Amino acid sequence: MSYRDVPKIELHLHIEGAAPPGFIRGLAQEKSVNLTGVFDEAGHYTYRTFNEFLSVYEAATEVLKSPRDYARLTTAVLEECAANGVVYAETFISPDFCGGGDLAAWREYLHAMQEAAEAAERAMGITLRGIVTCVRHFGPDKAKASARCAAETAGNWITGFGMGGDEMMGHQGDFAYAFDMAREAGLRLTTHAGEWGGPASMREAIRDLRVERIGHGVQAISDASLIDELIEKNIVLEVCPGSNVALGVVPSFAAHPIAKLREAGVRVTISTDDPPFFHTTMTREYDELERAFGWGEEDFAALNRIALDAAFCDDDTRARIA
Ligand code: ADE
Ligand code: ZN
Repeated sequence: MSYRDVPKIELHLHIEGAAPPGFIRGLAQEKSVNLTGVFDEAGHYTYRTFNEFLSVYEAATEVLKSPRDYARLTTAVLEECAANGVVYAETFISPDFCGGGDLAAWREYLHAMQEAAEAAERAMGITLRGIVTCVRHFGPDKAKASARCAAETAGNWITGFGMGGDEMMGHQGDFAYAFDMAREAGLRLTTHAGEWGGPASMREAIRDLRVERIGHGVQAISDASLIDELIEKNIVLEVCPGSNVALGVVPSFAAHPIAKLREAGVRVTISTDDPPFFHTTMTREYDELERAFGWGEEDFAALNRIALDAAFCDDDTRARIA
């Protein structure tokens, strides 16, 4: 078997960020929404900096206005995932974009997405779980509203709570109330940290939000005692190498710290983050890592075992995927 054929587990995927450009353009046309500045001449998402990326991301969500739009998005995203050999994925979903924090509206969005995911599971054999996500630069009050939505809909399909957005805004601890609420509802926790922020941001995430996974976490490479802490506390990193290269967090796949973190004993996994924004897919991530580090079938199988073990799903689901 080639490394390319290893069934893939993806833990870090933003649903809007995974929207194929053609899908967003199609909705924009249907709804006569002007998306100037979102796409370049070749039809790819376009931005120069991380903050521009966040703005373009939010501009693209302007066409996603109803539960039905999100159901169609879920189908489109899962088709891409399945085409790249993904058998289990977790996706970040933000109440901010799905009803603006209103609980009744959120339930409708969720119901539509879950139905689409179940249909995709029947048709393509891919399993999806949702991680409700607050957006850091929208502030702690919006995060509380998102956590309330998460807590009220926690269950079989919504299994986690997380935070994305601009890591340089405020502190992880500013969002402790939201994370406490989610934890009390039985949700598993992750947050973006150590993408743009340094080791201190990761330490705050562990101490103040008590997360068991960290999105990115690549800045740990500069801090040996933080690496020890990650190992000791069994914290899993959702590493997104192609995202880091595309956004300039690291200069190249060859210079990416994922191999050194793994060699040091940190539990790392591989995801795409926002694949069309970063011109990537899970297939490309594996190809680039094979090229950069010589990883083969056994390496990717081992990384996927870590990912499945760290997945925010119940044990029956885990056993079925394994
Ligand atoms: N939202 C979508 N992609 C993100 C990233 N790479 N970092 C922070 N927030 C995000
Ligand atoms: Zn992310």
